Amino acid sequence: MVDEVVRELITDPAGIYLDATVGGGGHAEVISDRLSGAGCLIGFDRDPGALALAQTRLSRFGDRVRFVHADYRNLASILHDLGITAIKGALFDLGLSSLQLDDPGRGFSYRWDSPLDLRFDTTSGPTAADWLRETDEEEIARVLRDFGGERHARRLARAIVRERRGPNGAIETTGQLVRVIDRVIGEDRHSRGRSAARVFQALRIVVNDELAAIPVAIPAALDLLSDGGRLVVLAYHSGEDGLVKSILREAARTCHCARRVGPCVCGANPRGRLVYRKPLRPTAHEESDNPRAKAARLRVFERAQGLSGRES
Ligand SMILES: C[S@@+](CC[C@H](N)C(=O)[O-])C[C@H]1O[C@@H](n2cnc3c(N)ncnc32)[C@H](O)[C@@H]1O
Repeated sequence: MVDEVVRELITDPAGIYLDATVGGGGHAEVISDRLSGAGCLIGFDRDPGALALAQTRLSRFGDRVRFVHADYRNLASILHDLGITAIKGALFDLGLSSLQLDDPGRGFSYRWDSPLDLRFDTTSGPTAADWLRETDEEEIARVLRDFGGERHARRLARAIVRERRGPNGAIETTGQLVRVIDRVIGEDRHSRGRSAARVFQALRIVVNDELAAIPVAIPAALDLLSDGGRLVVLAYHSGEDGLVKSILREAARTCHCARRVGPCVCGANPRGRLVYRKPLRPTAHEESDNPRAKAARLRVFERAQGLSGRES
């Protein structure tokens, strides 16, 4: 949804923009192309390898693009340290990139046998293997159910803990985890593949603490938007999209009074408006071109013009 993202995000080609999830630089490249010489893009990513790729890809833009190895939950303090007090737009393209999924060494996919890592930031924090070693059965089952939507969560968690107690002592590789999943799910190849995809998704979300970062980062980005500036969020997972929707609805709410029976007394101060009531979805053409785009939901929020301290 690159065209939609750029169309919704850029309201002033001379503005300062944040790409909070620069990844391989696909969106960042198109955004940078649309900025004038006075415009500037700051690109964050937790993944140093992705940042290095993006840096090479965008080198022709010179100083117009700056890259920061950072977790977007720290965006307020990082932008403050860069001397940036307001931005014209922010993009969050949540989750993992195709580059990460297709990298056999990272452990994001069950298609290759590799170390069970699954961290966006390869320089810090526990890996998925560490998490599976240290977490109890109950919590493993909860994560597989809540973040993966896996209906065999309990049986899988039991099998994972049993494997840990076996001669291998731990689950260190994607192949080892896939064999545990296969034993629980049984013969059907499609069911095994679907369960493996759900288990790997759940592990990725918990290892990178993805859902906790969103309620910190999105309000922080809203606070930094200048009048008429836009926040654009692409989510691919229903849990993420649900969170984004409720944060943006809350930010656009004009009244918090329990019942609108009399005059508003809550003094609500909406920060802007949702540009579309429903999220934008990929076109049928884009879905057939790129099946991974199918789940995408794009939400756009616009900071109110000169509304600070007033109700819309
Ligand atoms: C869907 S990809 C972005 C792809 C990018 N828009 C492009 O066009 O190439 C999401 C990226 O967000 C990064 N990421 C995930 N959580 C992050 C966080 N909390 N802070 C910074 N980057 C994060 C991932 O490492 C990944 O590279």
